[in-house]
Amino acid sequence: MYIGVPRETKPGERRVALVPETVAQLVAKGHTVGIESGAGVAAQLPDALYAASGAQILPDGPSVYEKADIVLKVRAPQEAEVPLLRPGSVLIAQMMPLLEPEIADLVAKSGAHSFSMDLMPRITRAQSMDVLSSMSTVSGYRAVLQGALLAERFFPMLMTAAGTIAPGKVLILGAGVAGLQAIATARRLGGVVQAFDVRPASREQVESLGASFLSLPVSDGEGEGGYARAMAEDEEERERQALAEPVKKADVVISTAMVPGRRAPVLMNREMVDSMHPGAVIVDLAAETGGNCELTQPGEIVVTDGGVIIDGTLNVPSRMPLPASQLFSRNLVTFLNHAFSAWIGDTTTAAELGPLPEGDEILRSTCVTSDGQVVHTATRERLAAVEK
Ligand code: NAI
Repeated sequence: MYIGVPRETKPGERRVALVPETVAQLVAKGHTVGIESGAGVAAQLPDALYAASGAQILPDGPSVYEKADIVLKVRAPQEAEVPLLRPGSVLIAQMMPLLEPEIADLVAKSGAHSFSMDLMPRITRAQSMDVLSSMSTVSGYRAVLQGALLAERFFPMLMTAAGTIAPGKVLILGAGVAGLQAIATARRLGGVVQAFDVRPASREQVESLGASFLSLPVSDGEGEGGYARAMAEDEEERERQALAEPVKKADVVISTAMVPGRRAPVLMNREMVDSMHPGAVIVDLAAETGGNCELTQPGEIVVTDGGVIIDGTLNVPSRMPLPASQLFSRNLVTFLNHAFSAWIGDTTTAAELGPLPEGDEILRSTCVTSDGQVVHTATRERLAAVEK
């Protein structure tokens, strides 16, 4: 099969779908890999490294799409790129079809089969293909470094000849994959860390990382599949009230609370932000889905009149593009290997691909488009809602 990687075109996207290490793995299996010249440059990966790993360097995006049976991308193609997809070819990317169903519809019309890595079922078997976990790991780490720099203070307690400096107080809201990585990172930096999550099961994980779990009078928020459920407005209000004191005392808040397919819960309102000291920082990793703080401006770092800094940076994994690409790429290639063994087999061109196997949970859950149709049910429902 010819596997192609075009340069990412979404503004600000610095990751790349394959890194030289994973190119070499695919080449060793007998595939041909074509990379658009410059595709890895923003992730510190020049063409020469790809060429040394056995990739063909192609001059531009159209030449990748023209040759590729399988196109690997980080993000969904932009509207102008979709017509470049060959009918019957395979696209694998983090397409976010629930947030951008229109692109999925265009991809369906191109006749390409597409798979979205963010739809990976959260089952043990698929853990090594789970880009949401990998990218949350990067975000949680990066958010703490960002918070420490913006706060312009020490995290560890320092005892010096000039006296003692108190340790930084870090509050982590949401203890999923990003939150747990944030706790581990803030602890390594020496901060005093508190955390809260509405899923009671997270307490043990928080404590095992050396943070204290806030015991708050908030309802059990465990939902389906190990995720949190959406809270009712009055439950969310009770949570804000319970968080008022811990937020007020924090030097840095890292908020990561999300509910799949929903707007992020608002855990901090204006009054709570106003109670924080000047120079206190909120890094809002939920900015992608509206933010955990009422004052978050997605994509911006803002400073309130009271001097509180609120960081709503989007696409945080792209701020560490090399390790983020390494992890993403390994997830992608593990998925691709699964697709080869369960579906593609020894087929050497996209034109010969057979139907998707009925019983394969991983392929079925992630498949967005096939045979000219959007086949992912929730995406179809979103499309219908957008079209109304
Ligand atoms: P996420 O990104 O959807 O949400 C982040 C965290 O926010 C979650 O822990 C959630 O409980 C919390 N949250 C939601 N609403 C909240 C509120 N109102 N107040 C406080 N916290 C709130 O979740 P993520 O990080 O993707 O992981 C969710 C769960 O899935 C975890 O239990 C994790 O261990 C599990 N998981 C399982 C995997 C597997 O089995 N393959 C892979 C990755 C995660």
